[in-house]
Amino acid sequence: MRRPLIAGNWKMYKTTTEAVVTVQQLLPLIKNAAHCDIAVIPPFTALSVVAPLLRDSNCGLGAQNCHYEKEGAFTGEISPAMLADLGCRYVTIGHSERRQYFKESDEWLNKKLKAAIHYGISPIFCIGELLEQREAGQFQTVVGSQVRAGLAGLTGEEFSHIILAYEPVWAIGTGRTATPEMAQQAHQFVRNLISQLYSWDQANRAIILYGGSVKPENITGLMAQPDIDGALVGGASLDAQSFSRIVKY
Ligand code: PGA
Repeated sequence: MRRPLIAGNWKMYKTTTEAVVTVQQLLPLIKNAAHCDIAVIPPFTALSVVAPLLRDSNCGLGAQNCHYEKEGAFTGEISPAMLADLGCRYVTIGHSERRQYFKESDEWLNKKLKAAIHYGISPIFCIGELLEQREAGQFQTVVGSQVRAGLAGLTGEEFSHIILAYEPVWAIGTGRTATPEMAQQAHQFVRNLISQLYSWDQANRAIILYGGSVKPENITGLMAQPDIDGALVGGASLDAQSFSRIVKY
């Protein structure tokens, strides 16, 4: 009953020309994939060239970040209204690289989630622990507090637009993926927490993606887990062939 999503986060890769070529290669490879939702998440600069290529396709468009205001004197920022105008269906919020390198706080992320939803964009809200936190047995405390703080004050209706992405930071870009069993345990913990914050019904409907070194070789085992509803793919989404193999898990 939960429709999976496979989303490719291109991070700070690809010029506009490279982005167009990748999408042109990707679309024919995935055109018959009807079992899941699919999205590409290019850098801001490529959104407007990729958007027309995706129109009438089975692949949605996402952005990697947004501000929480509609407009204003915020040099270097992009608003959710601007992303909606470009046809973005998704926006990643709270990616660990934003939390770590750009010091985005829980309070900001909470505002960003609300703003994206207000403009009709589904946030892909990223959560996940550092290696030292996992090794210190702090997984539940860290991820639990990220979820509670991020979702603070959001109604059940607002929450229904959010996609969660569990991404253990130690697995991102390291080639060291969580085992399917570890990922399943984490997803189950998050789903239980959602049931406490909202309801079992909402928890059962919540889409929870796994992210962190997802590859064509490990996607099948991950997708076989009952609480894993798709993947947020970084490195392996940059190449159309490899991303299409993940889409066809
Ligand atoms: P990775 O990145 O697949 O390259 O580990 C995942 C992500 O950061 O979303």
